[in-house]
Amino acid sequence: MSKKINVKLKQNSYNIYAGTSYLECYKYFPIGTGKRILIVTDKKIGPMYAYKLREELNKKNYISYVFEIAIGEETKNLNTVTSIHEECARLNIDRKCLIIALGGGVVGDITGFAASIYLRGIPFAQIPTTVLAQVDAGIGGKTGVDTIYGKNQIGTFYQPKFVLLDYEFLNSLDEREYKNGLAEVVKYAVIDNKCLFKFIEKNINKILDRNKKVLEYLIYSCAKIKARVVSLDEFEKNLRRVLNFGHTLGHAIESYEEYKGLKHGEAVGIGMAFDAYLGVKLKKCNEKVVRKIEDVLKNLNFDIENYKRKFSNKEFNLDKIIDIIKYDKKIESDNVKMYLPTKIGKVKDISISTNDIKKYLEEWK
Ligand SMILES: NC(=O)c1ccc[n+]([C@@H]2O[C@H](COP(=O)([O-])OP(=O)(O)OC[C@H]3O[C@@H](n4cnc5c(N)ncnc54)[C@H](O)[C@@H]3O)[C@@H](O)[C@H]2O)c1
Ligand SMILES: [Zn+2]
Repeated sequence: MSKKINVKLKQNSYNIYAGTSYLECYKYFPIGTGKRILIVTDKKIGPMYAYKLREELNKKNYISYVFEIAIGEETKNLNTVTSIHEECARLNIDRKCLIIALGGGVVGDITGFAASIYLRGIPFAQIPTTVLAQVDAGIGGKTGVDTIYGKNQIGTFYQPKFVLLDYEFLNSLDEREYKNGLAEVVKYAVIDNKCLFKFIEKNINKILDRNKKVLEYLIYSCAKIKARVVSLDEFEKNLRRVLNFGHTLGHAIESYEEYKGLKHGEAVGIGMAFDAYLGVKLKKCNEKVVRKIEDVLKNLNFDIENYKRKFSNKEFNLDKIIDIIKYDKKIESDNVKMYLPTKIGKVKDISISTNDIKKYLEEWK
C-alpha cells in the first residue's frame, strides 16, 4: 500500500511516496515538468530497471533518456559529474526537464550534485534502489562526490522534488548489499524508536528472508524518522548529527581497511556495538542495552566478535584508527563528540577524549 511522508522544510518541502511502483513515478512529477526526462542510473541498474522506466514514460508521451554511469564508489567523482553535465548539454536539458536518480546511494549522491549545479540547479527526483539509499541516502538532500583525500568532500544540500520508495527493488540486492542497509535500519531503531527495535528483535528471520510485509514496515518507519530529523535540521547544524550514531568507529574501520574490507553498513554495525559499550563505560546506559544491540546485530550476521578481537589483539593499529577519527571529525583538540544510547530509542551527546576511545577499544571484549 502506498503511503506519503512529508519532508517539511522552510523552502522546497517534498513528499516521499513509500510503497509505490517506480513505473508510476510520472504521477508525482512536479507541476510544470516538461516532456523531457533524463534517468541517471548505473550500469547494473540500467539493464535491470531503467530501460523499462524509459519505455513506460515514453508511453505516457514523455521523451526520456537513460544515462548509465559506472558501478561503485570509485565512480563517485567530479569526472562522472562532468560526464553527466555533458550528456545534459548534448540533450539540451533545461530547467523544465526532470532528472531522475535511479539507483543506490552512489547514483543518488552524484546525480543530486550534478543537478544542483547544472544551470545553477535543475529539478531532480530520487528513486533509490538499495535499502541504504531508501532509508538514508535518498532522503534529505545531501549530495556529493569523493576526492582522493576523502569521501563526500565536495557537495551541496539540494533537495529532490520527490522521493519514491519501491520495495520490489530490494529483492534483487545481493546478500551483502541487503545487510549493508540493515545496519542503518538498526541505527534508526536505537536512536529513535523502541517499538521498531522490538519489531526487529521479533522478526529477525523474516527480515533475513526479506518478507514483504516486514520490509514495508521497516523501510517506511526508517524513512519517516529520517524525514523528521531532516525537517528539524535541514543543514546538519545539530540534531541531524544523531544519524552519525555508530559512524565514528564505522568510518574509521572503512578508511583503515582502505574501503576494501567491510562495507559501510557492516562497519557501522561494529561501530554501533562499540558505541553501546562506550555507553556502559561512561555510565550512560546499562549492560542490558548493550546485550540487546549486540544480539540484534549478531542475529543479522554482523561480525562483531571478530572485530573486538582485532582491536584487543592490536591486530589493528589503534594509533592509526585514532588518527583517522581525528581527521574524519576535523578536530583540533583531543575530544570527540558522539551520540551514545541511554536506552533503546534514546541517545545523548557526549564528549570523549581520543585517549579514552583508544583505551576502551583495547579493553573491548
Ligand atoms: N546523501 C546521504 O545522505 C548519504 C547517506 C548515506 C550514504 N550515502 C552514500 O551512499 C553511497 C552508498 O550507497 P549504496 O550502499 O546504495 O551503494 P551503491 O549505490 O554503490 O549500490 C551498491 C551496489 O548495489 C547495486 N544495486 C543497487 N540497487 C540494486 C538492486 N535493486 N538490485 C541489485 N543491485 C543493486 C549497485 O549497482 C551497486 O553495485 C555512498 O557513496 C555513501 O557516501 C549518502
Ligand atoms: Zn551510514
